[in-house]
Amino acid sequence: MQHDKVLILDFGSQYTQLIARRVRELNIYSEIHPFNKPPKNVDDYKAVILSGSPMSVRSEDAFHPDLSEIRGKKPMLAVCYGAQYLAHFSGGEVAESNTREYGRANLSFVEDNEAFLEGIQVGSQVWMSHSDTIKQLPENGKLLASTHDVQNAAYKIEGETTYAIQFHPEVYHSTDGKQLLENFLVNIANVNPDWTPNAFVQETVDDLQAKLGGDKVVLGLSGGVDSSVAAMLLHKAIGKNLYCIFVNNGLLRKNEFTDVLEQYKGMGLNVKGVDASARFLDALAGLSDPELKRKAIGKTFIEVFDDEAHLIQDVKWLAQGTIYPDVIESVSATGGPSATIKSHHNVGGLPDYMKLQIVEPLRALFKDEVRRVGASMDMDKDLLGRHPFPGPGLAIRILGDITAEKVQILQDVDAVFINGLRESGLYDKVWQAGAILLPVNSVGVMGDERTYEKCVALRAVESTDGMTADWVNLPYEFLQKTSNDIINKVKGVNRVVYDISSKPPATIEWE
Ligand code: XMP
Repeated sequence: MQHDKVLILDFGSQYTQLIARRVRELNIYSEIHPFNKPPKNVDDYKAVILSGSPMSVRSEDAFHPDLSEIRGKKPMLAVCYGAQYLAHFSGGEVAESNTREYGRANLSFVEDNEAFLEGIQVGSQVWMSHSDTIKQLPENGKLLASTHDVQNAAYKIEGETTYAIQFHPEVYHSTDGKQLLENFLVNIANVNPDWTPNAFVQETVDDLQAKLGGDKVVLGLSGGVDSSVAAMLLHKAIGKNLYCIFVNNGLLRKNEFTDVLEQYKGMGLNVKGVDASARFLDALAGLSDPELKRKAIGKTFIEVFDDEAHLIQDVKWLAQGTIYPDVIESVSATGGPSATIKSHHNVGGLPDYMKLQIVEPLRALFKDEVRRVGASMDMDKDLLGRHPFPGPGLAIRILGDITAEKVQILQDVDAVFINGLRESGLYDKVWQAGAILLPVNSVGVMGDERTYEKCVALRAVESTDGMTADWVNLPYEFLQKTSNDIINKVKGVNRVVYDISSKPPATIEWE
């Protein structure tokens, strides 16, 4: 890659990924590495940012990185813990803070004529999140900004391109945070902001062509954003040598298999639709335990995919839609620095004997960047904006055992709900939504008849990554109409409830 790169050294802050995203929003490529496992060639990076941390620099086991290869040698921005670290170990003083320093604050002093603070003014809102405070600046430190409660909110080291801020520019509540990052990266560190979605597509296609040559690649499409964008990039690079397989496990949404298959074909993809609904239903017969259901679905998927992949002669590669959050090594906040890599297999892991090499064109991207890359390839907006949908599909939204009849009922309910969200302009305001078929019947009355039918729950959540989520305050009128439509249109359902639980303590799915 020919672009300037920024290194983010992670000290375990909950906001580290946000730093990377804000930097990338400036069209600057950034990578996160654990502070205790920096990349081998630090010289490849044009600037370095130190993240925050839940640790206190005053604690005995404080993270204590060796910055000798960085400090004073290349531009460095130290955020929160980073700023305290510089102070504590370079002749300044950090102490427990007397006042609560969490949440919004406003700058009350800003140094004039300072490139780092260009466009930042007194009154500018910043986001604080720390319990220690910098009492005294380090050697050669020069104060640059303060808030009412935090005297040393920003400083620089004279004679170096080293800057430090106590607040978090990466959090949206720091209204000028992006400007500050731009000041540091573009004006001070001279990083070239040329990492655009178009450039990414062009370079990835070139790389894929060089790597894959005339080899054949197989890819499992799921109907979701990641696998679709990965497929499009590979399609651009190797055309018909990309063999896509789209499996109907019988647990997709209503008409999803045929609609999405047509859409893929319309995009020019070499895609084969495989209807294995019966095989999946057989494998699920009699299973009620959620984890057993997941296992049965995963195993059946591998069998089906494997059968299909074997029909492609001489296939050498398996493509996956793995994205950056799946591969970032994380620093554990408790129990000291530990590095764990989450492994992610969209196809649930393939049998070893397939001996395929793995290609992952989206490994460097966050989800929102995947969408932007898809948009720059003119992919359909609806496909790119689709809500996440779990691999086991409706099987984990039908509580208890699965039958064809229950799947059909839930598909119909789900379709009323999701189409309603679309028609009301609410779909894009919701991160994920769906319906759950509950294992209870309840008494109702329709006309003069007593009914004893199924109950469904509707769930709609706001989230950024699915790790935490809050239920969405859907308008009562919408809920009222949806409930009416479901009970009138879907035979076998006489009661609708709306799930108002957040995650944690609940989860998004019910199983
Ligand atoms: P939970 O229920 O854990 O869901 O709050 C978080 C996100 O993960 C999705 N999810 C799954 N996705 N296989 C998947 O591919 C699964 O077994 C699975 N379980 C949950 C869920 O839809 C939500 O987006």
